[in-house]
Amino acid sequence: MAESKINQISKAFYGGVYKAPNRGYLKAIGKSDEDLRKPMVGIGAAWSETGPCNIHTLMLGRQAAKGVAANGITSFLFATPVVIDGIAMGSEGMKYSLVSREVIADTVEMMIKSNGYDGFVGISGCDKTSPAMMMAMARMNLPSILLYGGTTLNGNLRGEKITMQEIFEGVGSYSSGKMSIKELKEIEDNAIPSAGTCAGLYTANTMGMMTEVLGLALPGSASIPAVDGGKSDYAYRTGEAMLTIMENGIKPRDILTYEAFENAITVLMASGGSTNAVLHLLAIAHEASVKLTLDDFTRIGGKTAEIVNMKPGGSFTMEDLNNYGGVPLIMKKLIKANLINSDQITVTGKTIKENFEGIKMAEDNPDIVRDVKKPFHNAGGIHILKGSLAPEGAVIKASASGILSHKGPAVVFDSEQEAFAAVTKGKVKKGDVVIIRYEGPKGGPGMREMLSVTAAIIGRGLGESVALVTDGRFSGATRGLMIGHVTPEAYVGGPIALVKDGDMISIDVAKDRLDLNVSSGELEKRRQALKPRAPLYTTGLLSHYAKLVTDASHGAVLS
Ligand code: FES
Repeated sequence: MAESKINQISKAFYGGVYKAPNRGYLKAIGKSDEDLRKPMVGIGAAWSETGPCNIHTLMLGRQAAKGVAANGITSFLFATPVVIDGIAMGSEGMKYSLVSREVIADTVEMMIKSNGYDGFVGISGCDKTSPAMMMAMARMNLPSILLYGGTTLNGNLRGEKITMQEIFEGVGSYSSGKMSIKELKEIEDNAIPSAGTCAGLYTANTMGMMTEVLGLALPGSASIPAVDGGKSDYAYRTGEAMLTIMENGIKPRDILTYEAFENAITVLMASGGSTNAVLHLLAIAHEASVKLTLDDFTRIGGKTAEIVNMKPGGSFTMEDLNNYGGVPLIMKKLIKANLINSDQITVTGKTIKENFEGIKMAEDNPDIVRDVKKPFHNAGGIHILKGSLAPEGAVIKASASGILSHKGPAVVFDSEQEAFAAVTKGKVKKGDVVIIRYEGPKGGPGMREMLSVTAAIIGRGLGESVALVTDGRFSGATRGLMIGHVTPEAYVGGPIALVKDGDMISIDVAKDRLDLNVSSGELEKRRQALKPRAPLYTTGLLSHYAKLVTDASHGAVLS
């Protein structure tokens, strides 16, 4: 091993007579002189016992450490925080979810840099943890690799496949009298049967896919469920791969090129993944100094058909996808149609094209992934809308909605809680456009996901007749005509702050438009009368975040 080339950082931290104290501390935890002469990597597991998504990641980190050690590298395992979105949902806790992305990225940077490690192995899981670790990788630009911790298994209720989506929607059905408390409890008891992330192509699984598509994780690693022995095997191989990455001097920014992001957007559009991926890809690109904009999503979405049939818009889950070839199956279809730049380098040291030469595909199942020529939808899953209500952009997952145009009167709420109470009390009627504002990156702060409200709308049978527009975000499990990330947000005086009950709102997804049908004179009058709102938090993390965060159309990164 060419140690002298790959352990420059750790050697400066731990080599030579003056670093005796540093070595002394590590001898106290069992490291030998030989261990301390080897290259060193930090293994960061986004870990906590607060939910199923990341409960197994320390175990995967230990497996990765074995793989690292097998190639003569010393490793140190550490944990980062995790917010479990499904638990925080619908509460003040959800304000910390997007914030946690920056906290995790900062934690990784802090742990790797403060300890003088030569490289980084990340183990992710719940929604923000994969983008956070990819942001940290891009920011540090040290040899790195990521393993996505994997999905939970499918829930099962009397032979019906169910996921957490059915619990959230069940709450709406119960509130409208369509479901008994006993039925809701049965769903609650059976929807999430194991460790791992939410089962559909929601945010965590979408971003898990992205780890592989961007080239930062081993091909075939993302779709394997958390409790499958194969995941543990991949953890070992992920650790083992560090030597090649370090010896070849492959850095995250060599991998995270503009073309790699184009590939990621193509897979996002073709799979109907989560709208949150728009925010996260913009943020990762920002850290990698790649100029990516919302226009790239519109351009690529316009030429990419949706070929994957997964929840929330479709029927299948990540476990199902894994049974038919996982992410490589989707990429294979897109490569065949010349929609992927397969000359991109990946963590294996090989290009996407070269990686695929070594992957044996399972039998195709056209119910779950189709050829590009016979898609489920002719356009990409996600659309960027603009118009008088969102001059700088808004995002919708078109494939998760049965209707693509709508015109109706606004029913305005200044927080998620107010909207949830109104929906569950039956105060939102067919035809309405629910506006939820002051939930943006700065105003929330933290851009909460509105799954409780959107699931309640669906659960009450209003999914085909009510639209929702917000400067907040949506869960990957959201379905229906739901438009988020409205920019500029209400807190900074965006047009969404000027909407009044009864104003007509028009949505036309085919034309990528979102408009507020009120005269410019009237809007100007309202703007003059608009009073700036005091910040909701004046101390602590949310206060710091609100001061630094940028808008959703630029990834809600910190300035
Ligand atoms: Fe963690 Fe859904 S709550 S992945």
